[in-house]
Amino acid sequence: MTLKTILVTGGAGYIGSHTAKALAHSGLRPIVYDDFSNGHRDAVRWGSSIQGDVRDQARLAEVMKLFEVDAVIHFAGLIEVARSVIAPDLFWDVNLNGVAAVLGAMRQTGVRRVVFSSTAAVYGQPVADDLGRLDEDEVTAPINPYGESKLAAERLIAAHARAYGLEGVALRYFNAAGADPSGELGEAHACESHLIPLAIEAALGLGPALTIHGADYPTPDGGCLRDYVHVCDLARAHVLALTAPLSPNGFEAINLGSGAGHSVLDVVGAIDRATGRATPYSIGPRREGDPAALVADPSRAGRLLGWRAEQSSLDEIVTTAMAWRKAPRFGFDRTIGAAA
Ligand SMILES: NC(=O)c1ccc[n+]([C@@H]2O[C@H](COP(=O)([O-])OP(=O)(O)OC[C@H]3O[C@@H](n4cnc5c(N)ncnc54)[C@H](O)[C@@H]3O)[C@@H](O)[C@H]2O)c1
Repeated sequence: MTLKTILVTGGAGYIGSHTAKALAHSGLRPIVYDDFSNGHRDAVRWGSSIQGDVRDQARLAEVMKLFEVDAVIHFAGLIEVARSVIAPDLFWDVNLNGVAAVLGAMRQTGVRRVVFSSTAAVYGQPVADDLGRLDEDEVTAPINPYGESKLAAERLIAAHARAYGLEGVALRYFNAAGADPSGELGEAHACESHLIPLAIEAALGLGPALTIHGADYPTPDGGCLRDYVHVCDLARAHVLALTAPLSPNGFEAINLGSGAGHSVLDVVGAIDRATGRATPYSIGPRREGDPAALVADPSRAGRLLGWRAEQSSLDEIVTTAMAWRKAPRFGFDRTIGAAA
């Protein structure tokens, strides 16, 4: 089947908007479906834009029929780990019932494939002193409602693939970062919890000094190691996942990461190089539940998608994210951004 029209739930958000652009550049037609609770109308510039809740199966089915949708990429969801601990009901509702509604609407309308935004949080806390890279056979043992809701959603998709012949690809992103190199899109979360945008704000004087949570981990410089993957690399993987051949059970979970672990101080060093001055930071205590290392073994993505990270050096990630933060097109007070 030749693909033409792709429903992109959550396409007004950070990774979804970059993916909508990548789809359009691949000759596909994105239809963004978002409730704009955390996304930005100005980020939807490729294809059509529909306002709706992802838990509304009837509306999803209506949109799938109306636009003759061929496949779905499902980003819509809630993402802040700390908030999931204090509002688990909301996270389970949006992140699991959202997937159930998407799957139900797909069955109603005969849409076959869904590509799903999963996360390295499904692995929970790998053995503390194991700094090795994680492949998809690693034990899944999430330690917060965010990771639990994503793992449950993966399982629901796999069960639908087995029972009803749907096809599902769960892409487990490690740390998404960076911005569209042409400056049209970037990260603009209302409540930012990710290291790189917070460190950039500290470096540009737009936010408080960075707090590094723990410097006594069993890693080369004592800081946590994370795998940062450029949002444009992620976007490209979604386009590839739409047509990747799947195993007979119709479901694959695939890690998306660069395969390289970088410490918080490595990130600070890259930001220092970009600004030419020292980023202000202090060292605080460890945060509960932070594993020493979360680094992907991305070999399966290479085998099944023909994908590897190509734009995910720390310098490229930091340069694009900083250019965006200095001149954001939406999501921030532009005057402050432009003055930095
Ligand atoms: N950012 C990361 O580092 C990261 C890492 C792993 C996984 N993920 C997953 O990737 C997906 C996208 O992440 P992001 O960083 O782009 O987040 P984001 O918040 O920028 O985008 C999510 C989008 O979903 C929309 N949305 C939320 N609830 C909705 C609802 N009930 N109905 C319709 N739309 C709704 C929001 O308005 C937003 O536009 C999420 O599912 C997230 O869990 C992100």
